[in-house]
Amino acid sequence: MQSPKVTVVVGGQFGDEGKGKFVHYLVQSQGVDIVGRGNGGPNAGHNVHDPERGIEIALHLMPSGIIAESSVNIVGCGTVINPHTFIEEMDAVEKAGVRLSPERLKLSSRAHIILQSHRVIDGAGDRVGTTGQGIGPTYRDKAVRTGLRLESMLRETFLDDAQDVLEAHNKELAAGGYGDLCLDVERELVRLAESAEVLRPYITDTVDYVSEAIKAGKSILAEGAQATLLDINYGTYPYVTSSSCTAGGILGGLGVPAQYADRVIGVFKLPMTRVGKGPFVTRLTDEESDLHVRLAGKKGSAGAEFGATTGRARDIGWMDVVSARYAQAVNGFTEIGLTKLDTLSGIKTLKVATSYVCDGEQFTTMPADTQTLEKCTPVYTELPGWEENIDGLKDFETLPNAAKDYVAFIEKQIGVPVTMIGTGPNNSDVIIR
Ligand code: IMP
Repeated sequence: MQSPKVTVVVGGQFGDEGKGKFVHYLVQSQGVDIVGRGNGGPNAGHNVHDPERGIEIALHLMPSGIIAESSVNIVGCGTVINPHTFIEEMDAVEKAGVRLSPERLKLSSRAHIILQSHRVIDGAGDRVGTTGQGIGPTYRDKAVRTGLRLESMLRETFLDDAQDVLEAHNKELAAGGYGDLCLDVERELVRLAESAEVLRPYITDTVDYVSEAIKAGKSILAEGAQATLLDINYGTYPYVTSSSCTAGGILGGLGVPAQYADRVIGVFKLPMTRVGKGPFVTRLTDEESDLHVRLAGKKGSAGAEFGATTGRARDIGWMDVVSARYAQAVNGFTEIGLTKLDTLSGIKTLKVATSYVCDGEQFTTMPADTQTLEKCTPVYTELPGWEENIDGLKDFETLPNAAKDYVAFIEKQIGVPVTMIGTGPNNSDVIIR
C-alpha cells in the first residue's frame, strides 16, 4: 500500500476562523485528490473564489474542492444534509461553470436528512442562538434513532417513512404550543420527492470509496466545519453545535481511519470572534469603540465580521492562547494557521490572554464548567504592535519585526509551529513558512 496523505483542517476557536482560505490554498497548490466534509451541515458558510475563472460562490455543505475540477468531493456520514438547500448549492456551482457528476460528488448514504420540520423545531426551541438550519433537531433524531438517512431516498418506502417523521414533528410542535408552525405534510412530501430525484445518483457508500482511495495512496483533505469550542463534546456546552468538530470527529465522520492523519492544521483567527450565545472570555464589550469597529470591518466588505449563513454581527475579542492550548490538547495539531494578521496593523498595543482568573483562582487552560468560564476574566500579556501596512504580504521575512515577534509569541504559547498566515481577504494573501 502506498503511504496515504491525509490532512485535516480544524477550527481552533468558535468557527469562522477562515479555514476555507487554507483549504483553498492546499487544494490549489497541492492538487488534493479528495476533499471531504465529515461534520455539521449547512450551518457552516464560506465563500470560495477563483478570480482567474471568475468564480465566486457561497458554499455551506459542499466541500470546497468542488471548484478544482480535479478533486473528488465527499459529504461524509457524520454530516447532516438539507436536500433542498444542497440542490441550491449544486445549482450555484453549475451556474458558475463547474461541472458536477456522481464521479466528482459523492454523498454518504449514511448522512442524515434535515427536513423542513427540523428547521421549524430548531427555530421554535432555540436557547443558544443557533443558525436556524435544523442542525440540532436532526442530530437529536439521529441520536434517538428516528432520523432519516440519505439511503432511505433509495428505497420505495421513502415517502412513507418521511411522512411518518413529518407527522410526528407536527404532533411535537402542536404539543409544545407551536401548532401554528405545523407544516403541510403533503406539500413537504412533493418537495422531498423532487429533491430525491435529483440527489439519488450522488448517494453512495462513501466508506468503500475512501477505503479504496487510501489503499491507492490518494491525498485526502478533511475540511472541518465549526470548531473546537463549538464541539458537542469539548465545546462550551450547552453553547455548542451538535456535531463533533474536532480532528477525531471530522476524520470519523468522513470515514478516514485515525491512523492515517499525518497533518492536523489548527486554524486561529486574530482577533477571535464568536456568533450566537455563550462565554467568550476576551470579548470586547463596547461595540462602538474604535477598536471594535476597526476589527469588525464594514458589513458587506471583504473579511468583515458578519455571519456568512445568518448575516449576524460576530462578537469580537483579543486572541486567547488559554483556549488555544486547550484546543491543542484536544486535537493534537501538527501545525497552525493564523488568519487576519493584517487587521492588527496600526494598533499600538496588542493584547493576548495568557491565563484566566475566576474567584481568585487562576486557569492556564479552559475550565470544563461553563458557569465558571462565564465568570472568568482574562489576564493579558501586552505586545507592541506595528504601524506598517502588511496587506497581501507573502514572505514572512518582509513582515515588520513586531509582527514576527507576535507570531513567535503565539507559536511558543501553543507549542506548535505556525506554518500559514493570512494577510488579506484574497485567497492568495497567504504567507507559507
Ligand atoms: P447550530 O449549529 O445552528 O445548531 O448553532 C449552534 C451554535 O453554533 C450557535 O452559537 C451558532 O452560532 C454556532 N455555529 C454554528 N455553525 C457555525 C459556523 O459555521 N460558524 C460560527 N458559528 C457557528
